[in-house]
Amino acid sequence: MKTLTIETPIKVYAYDELNTEERKLTESALEATHRSYAPYSNFHVGAAVLLEDGTIVTGTNQENVAYPSGLCAERTALFYANSQYPDKAVKALAIVARDVDGVTNRYVISPCGACRQVMVETEKRFGKPIKVLLCGAEEVYVAESASSLLPLSFEF
Ligand code: THU
Repeated sequence: MKTLTIETPIKVYAYDELNTEERKLTESALEATHRSYAPYSNFHVGAAVLLEDGTIVTGTNQENVAYPSGLCAERTALFYANSQYPDKAVKALAIVARDVDGVTNRYVISPCGACRQVMVETEKRFGKPIKVLLCGAEEVYVAESASSLLPLSFEF
């Protein structure tokens, strides 16, 4: 038997340490939370995708009374971006969540496994890492590549 230890590098930034492009991306994700459809959870998530040419595409969580029919903000944004701009690589993705108390300051928003899987495939599709910014009220956790959020991701 041997133990495999996997390390995930995450950088923690204050908002004023982000560059202008990253700040704009987090602001777009925050703004998008107001377009979320989340009548069941009241947890409003916004995602903003930055494409290689500087285009920003946003998405929000879209819930449904048949719960599994809904979709997370990250996949809404990525699928929309890849549908509209199939030839433009995704450079970065920012995620913000707002609940009844405002932008959550208990934790940074952390994407579900299915969204991570889609992020990883988007990286592979374009052959470029996606910088992922997980936004909290005070801090932003930054992964330089989505693959560091999903070690041992499924592939065949
Ligand atoms: N949700 C997202 O949109 N993104 C995440 O990263 C986590 C969860 C949504 C799904 C559901 O609409 C609500 O948040 C509560 O789980």
